[in-house]
Amino acid sequence: MLKTKDLLGLENLTKKEIELILDTAINFKGVFTRSVKKVPALRGKTVVNLFYEPSTRTSKSFEVAAQRLSADVIDITTSMSSVVKGESLIDIGKTLEAMKADFVVIRHAMAGTPKILAENISAAVINAGDGFHEHPTQGLLDLYTIRENLDEIKGLKVVIVGDIGHSRVAKSNILALNKFGAKVTVVGPPTLIPDSIKEMGVDIEYNLKKALENADVVNILRIQLERQNKNLFPSLREYTALYKVTPEILKYAKKSVLIMHPGPMNRGIEISSEVVNLKNAVINEQVTNGIAIRMAILYLLAKANK
Ligand code: CP
Repeated sequence: MLKTKDLLGLENLTKKEIELILDTAINFKGVFTRSVKKVPALRGKTVVNLFYEPSTRTSKSFEVAAQRLSADVIDITTSMSSVVKGESLIDIGKTLEAMKADFVVIRHAMAGTPKILAENISAAVINAGDGFHEHPTQGLLDLYTIRENLDEIKGLKVVIVGDIGHSRVAKSNILALNKFGAKVTVVGPPTLIPDSIKEMGVDIEYNLKKALENADVVNILRIQLERQNKNLFPSLREYTALYKVTPEILKYAKKSVLIMHPGPMNRGIEISSEVVNLKNAVINEQVTNGIAIRMAILYLLAKANK
């Protein structure tokens, strides 16, 4: 059983708690092959999606997960809500609490926002990505996908490519993989890899070929084009020349290397279309697994908050 009201990050979850989430997700994934892809576990519960930043996968995945658990879902697009009239986060939280929301799934550009909300409302708060801090459900679905394909995570070499410094996905992946004994290497331009990332127990590389040597998994991060104006790397052309993952560069990794990308992808920039289509690319499986993981989180938090 989870001993937490909310899911704010993976840092404070134990390996045992993460295993419980992954094992619960296996059972829920079984529901997807039924003709009726629905169970009554959360009938009568209300899940609110509160996204202050754009999202396709995470927001829709939570919506589908909640529906498959028979919960009611309310989607709040902040650009169409009273946020634009200056309503504060806490006041929105209190409004949702007054409507008897059981869960609030929040994405926000500022790290720590889900924690502030969680401290102020009785509903379970789930972090759907906060600034550069964490994206715990992405970390969990990535871990699930690795375990499903490669069984044992301990000892695997996992290479995370790209904008590590700005990536909440990288942080949650590293936290989860460390707990399971994987060896994580991060690779990208020096300007996108803060030295402080070493404190998370990862190896740093700046050369993609060297980083990929003997890799079991390569997780390719999206280049955040919206940060291009900050001149963190000389040009997209240079980034692509040095760090785009192609079938040729993958020859430096193990033949069976598992290819992952959290999405959304910039095809031709950080990943080539040929790589997306390789048989060991599991990018669509990650999306499917995301629903099972989010069903497991909603279910386990509902039990913990009974
Ligand atoms: N992986 C991910 O968080 O994608 P979205 O931004 O579409 O939710």
